[in-house]
Amino acid sequence: MFDRALLDELCDLATRVRTLAKSEVGARALRDLLPTRRAMLYFTQPSTRTFLSFNNACHILGMRTSEIRDPSTSSEVKGESFSDSIRTFSSYVDVIIMRTKEAGRAAQAAKLMDGIPRPVPVINAGSGSDQHPTQALLDIYTLARSFEPRGGIDGKVIGMMGDLKRGRTVRSLCYLMRHYEGVRLVFIAPPQFAMESDIKAYLDEHRIAYSETTQLSTVLPQLDALYVTRMQTEWDTAGESRAVDLKPFSVGTHELTLMKRDAFIMHPLPRGPEIDPLVDQDPRAMYWRQERNGMWMRVAVLIKIFGVERIVTALAAADGQPPLGGRLA
Ligand code: CP
Repeated sequence: MFDRALLDELCDLATRVRTLAKSEVGARALRDLLPTRRAMLYFTQPSTRTFLSFNNACHILGMRTSEIRDPSTSSEVKGESFSDSIRTFSSYVDVIIMRTKEAGRAAQAAKLMDGIPRPVPVINAGSGSDQHPTQALLDIYTLARSFEPRGGIDGKVIGMMGDLKRGRTVRSLCYLMRHYEGVRLVFIAPPQFAMESDIKAYLDEHRIAYSETTQLSTVLPQLDALYVTRMQTEWDTAGESRAVDLKPFSVGTHELTLMKRDAFIMHPLPRGPEIDPLVDQDPRAMYWRQERNGMWMRVAVLIKIFGVERIVTALAAADGQPPLGGRLA
């Protein structure tokens, strides 16, 4: 559903709200944008940052939120179907933000909305090991911000390392790469956790260059950014992750000496042992800023969904002062 214009617009919006929120008057104006809107956060798979960043994104815009995080507290335990549960949420709120262990659930919920009289937007906040689209958006925002002094994302060499087979963040990010010119991807993974063939077929179809290796040290000096991921142990059926020697797929102080001075390291978090906490001190460690960028990007997504982007642009031009001193939404 994304194109370059929409990605650029979302990045610009995220920057505008980030700047506006720095001042008291700007933060108040943002809070006046959507005070009558309500969001449902249906997160039945564990999450820290996606849940908290969406929750806070809603509150930044003055929205109210409801949540179900533990399915044992919902009527699903009485046998209510997934479809009936989603339809019930839509009776009370204006947007459903959902994370599930099962792949395809957000798409199923969105399809259900197409057939009911009061549909509400559905945002996929992570569906199984399949997709995590808003993570990909915040990753694009982080890449765009970080590469801004170097002409943006176009033409850059981006490494993706770790459990690429079961990591939904890298899968979603690969999809968005088709909107950038001349990007080259380098997949660095243990052979049993290499990138899946459906993503490689997609990259081939869209003529996005990629290569695969198990040797980080060989490719590290060429990379403009390295996107590290953890082993997705939650999908193990027989301790597969434990069989992997993670050391060759980890970043420590030695790896920093091999990187370009202006390259940077990303990670969707949470991290395991694949990034030594000592790396956090290096200015090329981008993952904590990436995490915070997630909240601003999710504010931007909500602004776009509810169609108030022009008000935000006007506010940004007026340093947060509401036009004519009146209410905005
Ligand atoms: N990156 C990410 O999705 O983190 P959480 O699982 O904590 O939401």
